[in-house]
Amino acid sequence: MTVSPTSPTLLSAFAEDVVSGLSGDQPRLSSKWFYDERGSKLFQSIMQTDEYYLTNAEEEIFRACGKDLLARTDGKPFDLIELGAGDGTKTQYIIETFLAHKARFAYRPIDLNASALKELSELINVRWPKLDFEPIQADYFEALNRLGNSSGTRQRLLLFPGANIGNFTPGEAVEILKRIRSFLSPGDLLLTGFDLKKDPAVVLAAYNDPQGYTASFNLNLLERINRELKGNFVLDCWRHWETYDPSTGSAKSFLVPIEDQSVRIGVAGRNFNFRAWQPVEVEISQKYSLREVEGMADAAGFEFVEHYQDSKQYFTDSLWRVPSR
Ligand code: AVJ
Repeated sequence: MTVSPTSPTLLSAFAEDVVSGLSGDQPRLSSKWFYDERGSKLFQSIMQTDEYYLTNAEEEIFRACGKDLLARTDGKPFDLIELGAGDGTKTQYIIETFLAHKARFAYRPIDLNASALKELSELINVRWPKLDFEPIQADYFEALNRLGNSSGTRQRLLLFPGANIGNFTPGEAVEILKRIRSFLSPGDLLLTGFDLKKDPAVVLAAYNDPQGYTASFNLNLLERINRELKGNFVLDCWRHWETYDPSTGSAKSFLVPIEDQSVRIGVAGRNFNFRAWQPVEVEISQKYSLREVEGMADAAGFEFVEHYQDSKQYFTDSLWRVPSR
């Protein structure tokens, strides 16, 4: 497998993030860096497991919600912007419905991962060569900055799918949603995917697949550090451990060293000592109740419009509007 190189700016952001994460009392690494080429492939494998219900749930929602979404726009041409588009597999259903109803819109998918955007571009060019389409490879906010504030421009429908918001704590999530709000104008719409609180056994199993894809996905972060930051993590000495606390709704992934080790991160010129069984937190996947989601809309300065849910009620794509001042 060829690995596409990370750009120099991203590489130093990666190095800084790793160093600051590992320097604290509670070492952590950010799940934001999971998605290099290999990580994206592993995530695709996770999505195909029986245990990982999130993808099917949101696909069911996206197959059904397009018509209603379109009816919520003001009928004029608009911009469909997608944060964390990935390979765009699910969004196709929304685009398909929009086009079937003669909607006029431009599609602006944003993702940090170049290989996923490349796959998406190929798919769009084959299916809808005439679609006004321009992918942006960047961080969410760097991309939004490039697009600028929407006042005086066309209406925006911003998609933030896939429960990516779950990778932040509830407090961070509100801050991010507020920031997203600052790029929008009254009447603009935001559709965000939230995974819902449910049977803890179902949640836990989604992050503990027996084939071990989730474990490999998490361990790939250490491998990526080894590859790109000249690290020397001994992968055999780390175990994947998942927890789910049904009272807080936080699913967390840890990498746990089975013995003491000292790791050098060459690019940063730093050494880190890990003690046996001292976990490194690598991901939070936060689950919410519908009421909590509605409360977040309010806290972030939006007006709640609608929950689109799957038939098992495992997931919601929640539609919010920027209220008029
Ligand atoms: C892509 C962030 C929604 O947290 O459920 C899948 C990533 N991590 N298995 C999630 C993930 C472990 C996923 N999101």
